[in-house]
Amino acid sequence: MSLMHFETITKVIHHRRAVFPPSYIQRAIPKALITELLDCANAAPTHKLTQPWRFVVFRERGLSKLADQLSSLYKTHTPPEQFLQKKFESTREKIQRSGAVVAIIVSYSGVVPQWEEIAATACAVQNLWLAASAAGIGGYWSSPGTIKYMGDFLRLAEHEACLGFFYMGYHEEPLRPAKRDPLAEKVRWEE
Ligand SMILES: Cc1cc2nc3c(=O)[nH]c(=O)nc-3n(C[C@H](O)[C@H](O)[C@H](O)COP(=O)(O)O)c2cc1C
Repeated sequence: MSLMHFETITKVIHHRRAVFPPSYIQRAIPKALITELLDCANAAPTHKLTQPWRFVVFRERGLSKLADQLSSLYKTHTPPEQFLQKKFESTREKIQRSGAVVAIIVSYSGVVPQWEEIAATACAVQNLWLAASAAGIGGYWSSPGTIKYMGDFLRLAEHEACLGFFYMGYHEEPLRPAKRDPLAEKVRWEE
């Protein structure tokens, strides 16, 4: 690996941002490109090679099915006094505006602790996110309260759980810096 790779990857890491559906433009993401992005996810580190990440990709008419499901789950599981028509409609709209939405699923192997499987799946999502960002595609990880009711719809097995959805779409947002507290507050050096 050369110094050129180092410069490229640090740039990609620092330029990656959460980009939300209202910023997405109407431009289809080719299936072959989504496959390439997921192949980057599939290269994530994994203890004992359990490779616990699973994905369900919603695009084209699949997006309408997901929109129906997520909005109706919101309606069913929100007490009437907390229900917001605006949120109900925006749940649909943000899915319809996306080029694709990927359900993020962890498949527990029982071979390593569950937290390691979740950590490996999060590494896979970060790979997907970085690769998408480098391809000009914005995205963000959404973890709505309704994910715990998605089992049947996503056809999850007993040992699987949904960790949220990765929304993605082409966009024209300008670069913006990350909002983070200083690194120095998070590191102690012992030397
Ligand atoms: C595990 C996880 C769950 C997240 N869930 C949500 C979410 O439900 N809604 C949301 O707006 N952002 C969610 N995010 C994305 C963060 O909002 C986003 O990364 C944060 O706003 C920082 O922005 P940046 O990544 O552009 O620096 C999630 C991120 C992670 C890692």
